[in-house]
Amino acid sequence: MWLDLRSLEERLSTDFVGRRIVYLTSTPSTQDIARAEAEQGAPEGTAVLAEEQTAGRGRFGRAWVSPAGRNLYLTLVLRPPLARLRSLSMVAPLATALAVQDVSDLSPRIKWPNDVLIGGRKLSGMLVETELSGQTVRYSLVGIGLNVNYDIEEESEIAGIATSVKRELGREVSREEALAALLNRFEELYLQAGRGAEVHQAWKARLETLGRQVKVSFRDQVHEGVAEDVDPEGSLILRRADGSLLTIEAGEVTLRQ
Ligand code: BTN
Repeated sequence: MWLDLRSLEERLSTDFVGRRIVYLTSTPSTQDIARAEAEQGAPEGTAVLAEEQTAGRGRFGRAWVSPAGRNLYLTLVLRPPLARLRSLSMVAPLATALAVQDVSDLSPRIKWPNDVLIGGRKLSGMLVETELSGQTVRYSLVGIGLNVNYDIEEESEIAGIATSVKRELGREVSREEALAALLNRFEELYLQAGRGAEVHQAWKARLETLGRQVKVSFRDQVHEGVAEDVDPEGSLILRRADGSLLTIEAGEVTLRQ
């Protein structure tokens, strides 16, 4: 069943996030539509929403499996000050984890920097694409994919590494409720991120990466060590075998057993 936008709107308590919705039944990627919207001056908080993506994109050039009518695929157009840009990588996964908690009794964890997991399997991922003009953010596109009512255990290619709310909960949840919770949480945290350390602390408290032996890959480099901490900007601080510390801004973590 397609999303009921009226029921979504009734549940929204935001001032600007999701107050303008561009809704598509099918599109290659909401990121591309959001980029065109942003270029045309779309107001901050515009949400591009699709029932299905035929070429959904993940991080590191991967695909994001996006079947119709079961999950949530959205991209938010934001224009944060440059100093708050990196907080988006904390706001988005934390808002998603809290939204899932709001509509279920599940308590998702976060794998640094912004994968949302349950039982080690990925429930949600985000992709942030930013256009700068010198030191000014022209716009930032925060793409979120959340597996809601997907019968993912039937998908042999990803069943081992990915999950959905339905799989974890054993029943379906309302996508309108989940989306409204996500937009409400997002705005609350986005505004809070400009005011102090609370968002960072809440994000850090959900990280399942800290204290673990990890391998971090980024571009052609791989670093190994213990994930000792995260700094206020969200970078990972790795303690290497020789005792030295390395601060890593971005990358993909593999947790070592
Ligand atoms: C990842 O974990 O690799 C990021 C996944 C991001 C997927 C979302 S779905 C909505 C938006 N449109 C896309 O093509 N990708 C993002």
